[in-house]
Amino acid sequence: MAIVETNNLTKVFGGKFTAVDHISFEVEKGEIFGFLGPNGAGKTTTVHMLCTLTQITEGEARVAGIDVKKQPDEVRKKIGLVPQDISVDDDLTAKENMDLHGKLYHMPKNLINKRIPELLKVVELTDWKDALVKTFSGGMRRRLEIAEGLMHRPEILFLDEPTMLLDPASRVSIWEYVKSLNEQGITIFMTTHYMDEADKLCDRVAIIDYGKIVTIGNPEELKGMLGGDIVTVHTNDREKFLNHIKNLNFITEVLPQEDGIRITVDKGETAIPKLFQEANKVGIGINNISLSRPTLDDVFIKFTGKSLREEKTDKIELYKRTMLMQRRKHQ
Ligand SMILES: Nc1ncnc2c1ncn2[C@@H]1O[C@H](COP(=O)(O)OP(=O)(O)O)[C@@H](O)[C@H]1O
Ligand SMILES: [Mg+2]
Repeated sequence: MAIVETNNLTKVFGGKFTAVDHISFEVEKGEIFGFLGPNGAGKTTTVHMLCTLTQITEGEARVAGIDVKKQPDEVRKKIGLVPQDISVDDDLTAKENMDLHGKLYHMPKNLINKRIPELLKVVELTDWKDALVKTFSGGMRRRLEIAEGLMHRPEILFLDEPTMLLDPASRVSIWEYVKSLNEQGITIFMTTHYMDEADKLCDRVAIIDYGKIVTIGNPEELKGMLGGDIVTVHTNDREKFLNHIKNLNFITEVLPQEDGIRITVDKGETAIPKLFQEANKVGIGINNISLSRPTLDDVFIKFTGKSLREEKTDKIELYKRTMLMQRRKHQ
C-alpha cells in the first residue's frame, strides 16, 4: 500500500524557476525511501510540498491517503518532519524544546509530559534533558530533532538530510535510530546527498537531479544494472586512448570524465592487464588506474554524466549554518 503518491508534482519558484519538475512516484507503507541527489536537486522542495510547507504549483500529492492540497491540516497530523536546517532552539533545554513542539502541535499537556521522557530515552538524551541545547554536539541536536519529529506519533517521518555535517560515529548512530524506528512500523522518507547513506539505509532510492527523478529502485538493483566493475584510468593522452579502446570487446562502456576515463568491464582483474597492453600498443602512458565495484554514485554518473560531489554541498551547508548561528547569537 502506498503512503505517499505523487502525480506530476511540480514546484515553480517566482513564476519561472522549476525546482521540482513533474515527478511521479510512490512510497510504500513501511519502507525506508530515499531521495538521493546533489545540492539544489529539489529534495527539500519536494519534502516541503509533501509536508504542506510550500504550495504545490502543479500536480497532485497524497500522504497517508489524504490530498495535500485539499486537506493540509489533516496531512500535518499524520507526518513528522526533521528539517534540513536547525530546528531546535539553542537557548532552551532539550525538554523545553520538546514541550514547545508539543504545544505547537496542540497536544494535550499530559500527553506531552508522557511522550517527552519516552522519546528522550529512545534517542539516548535522558541524562541531558535539562541541558541547554547550545551545549549539544551536532549529533545530539539531530537526535533531539528526531525525538521532536516523533512527538505526535506520525505514520511517516520525513528526514531531510539527517546526517549532514555529522561526524562518522554520529552518522552511524542516527542510522541505527532510523532503522529501529522503521522496525517499529514508521515509514521513513529521507533525503540525502550521501550515496553511502542511501545505499545502507534505503529499501528504495529515487535519484533526483535538476528536479527530475532519473531512476528509482532498490540500491542493489540499481547498481546491478551497471553490469560489471568500474576501472578508472588516467593517461597522458585521454582522447587518443578513448578512441583506441572504445570498440574493444572486453569493454562494456566508456565514459570520459573531467580528467580520466571511466570504463565498465565484466571483470576488473582481467581487464586491467589488457588495458596496459592496449596502452602500450599505441604508445600511451597510464599514470593511474583503479578498480571499484559500482556504487550509487556510479548509477548517478550513468544517468546524469556527472558525479555526486559531497564536498561542495557540505561546504555550502557549513557556511549557511555558521551564518545562522551567528545571526541567532546577535539577536
Ligand atoms: N524559496 C525559494 N525561492 C527560489 N528558489 C528556491 C527556493 N527554495 C529553493 N529554491 C531553489 O530550488 C532548487 C532546489 O532547492 P532544494 O529543494 O533546496 O534542493 P536540495 O534540497 O536538493 O538541495 C535550488 O536551485 C534552490 O536554489
Ligand atoms: Mg535540501
